[in-house]
Amino acid sequence: MKQSTFDRQDSVTLDLDHLRAQFPMLQRRMRGKRFAYLDNGATSLKPESVIAAEQHYYTELSANIHRGVYEFSEQATVEYDQTREKVARFIGAESDGSIVFTKGTTEAINVVAYGFVRKFFGPGDELVTTEIEHHANLVPWQEACKATGATLRFIPVNPDGSLQLDALEDVITERTKLVAVTAMSNVTGYMPDLARIIAAARAREAVVLVDGAQYVSHHPVNVRSLDCDFLVFSGHKMCGPTGVGVLYAKNEVLEQMDPLIYGGDMVTKVRRDEATYKPIPDRFEGGTPNIAGVIALGAAVDFLSQVGMQAIAAHERDLLAYMVERAREVDELVTYGPDDLSSRGGIFSFNYADVHPHDAGALLDQEGVAVRTGFHCAQPLMQVFGVTGTVRASFYLYNSTEDIDALVNGLARIKGVFG
Ligand SMILES: Cc1ncc(COP(=O)(O)O)c(C=O)c1O
Repeated sequence: MKQSTFDRQDSVTLDLDHLRAQFPMLQRRMRGKRFAYLDNGATSLKPESVIAAEQHYYTELSANIHRGVYEFSEQATVEYDQTREKVARFIGAESDGSIVFTKGTTEAINVVAYGFVRKFFGPGDELVTTEIEHHANLVPWQEACKATGATLRFIPVNPDGSLQLDALEDVITERTKLVAVTAMSNVTGYMPDLARIIAAARAREAVVLVDGAQYVSHHPVNVRSLDCDFLVFSGHKMCGPTGVGVLYAKNEVLEQMDPLIYGGDMVTKVRRDEATYKPIPDRFEGGTPNIAGVIALGAAVDFLSQVGMQAIAAHERDLLAYMVERAREVDELVTYGPDDLSSRGGIFSFNYADVHPHDAGALLDQEGVAVRTGFHCAQPLMQVFGVTGTVRASFYLYNSTEDIDALVNGLARIKGVFG
């Protein structure tokens, strides 16, 4: 191992001790060691305020929404709808009406694939995406294109996993009706120049869906300045509960779409042979939703807003820089993603010598370090890299340089086992 020259200070903007104390999982030990949680790309840990909000619903309300005329049902409805307002403000949406609750990013993308693509696309139409997408932002489009006869096209990718944006004008044409792209790769942390992609789509009057699953939880977002038509993200990656996510859609786009789920709670009038539907967004939330999850998502938005999204992004930039610096000490480390760190969020993917990623992950587990190993639901990108999988360390607001040190020290142990 070579010496690191990195200044080991954590970001001055976050009070890490105070933050970490709010996460019960960070008080645990794993395999008897200090718990270094570096799998935030998969899901984030939850602060006490979010856990308390979920518990508050079950212990103090526990009623269905939009139906009851009694106090607890009314209160549950108020708190559910408050989260919609909070989420709208959090991402700068024009109105609460453009926020649809789903069970996650995957479902949100499927709502668009069914309610927009399958409704409006036909043979000759084109849908543009990329090879760096999570399967959630690819497979629904494959199926929708098969069903409609539309063609799926790809913005070419460079060997480092960045996109060839010079090719935008060739790929996005007058036939393009939708461009679906990630705001941040879950494998490399690469953040494409969305403004440029959206401008190219606008020039062809195509609609744009941004997969914000990895981005929204780590950076400030304003959908109006971004000018995307759809933004999708998951609560569980942003300190919120599992089973709840968000589809943001511009009102005028959402108005034209068909719901994915039909049934109770999304109708105004039902007769034997037909029904009429509620206005947006309720029309897209058929059935009893994840009420506790939505209320707890509101607590997660409050928590993140209090910490400050700028501060979180800056902290993770520091952690990535520290990770890259320390990685230089490790011989035989192969890393993935663009060298330009300004185009990357807090994700670091690598392979160590010829150690299988799962073996590396299993040995890191013994050191108390939790990482993700495998193809990260992004097999086309693995093909670009010519590997079957990688080890991924992904950072969040509560991570410190100590977590990265534990990872690097763990790699030294791996060398001891396999070297
Ligand atoms: C970039 C990206 N898109 C979509 C998803 C799918 O999110 P979910 O499983 O919460 O639906 C993920 C999950 O890891 C992701 O990283």
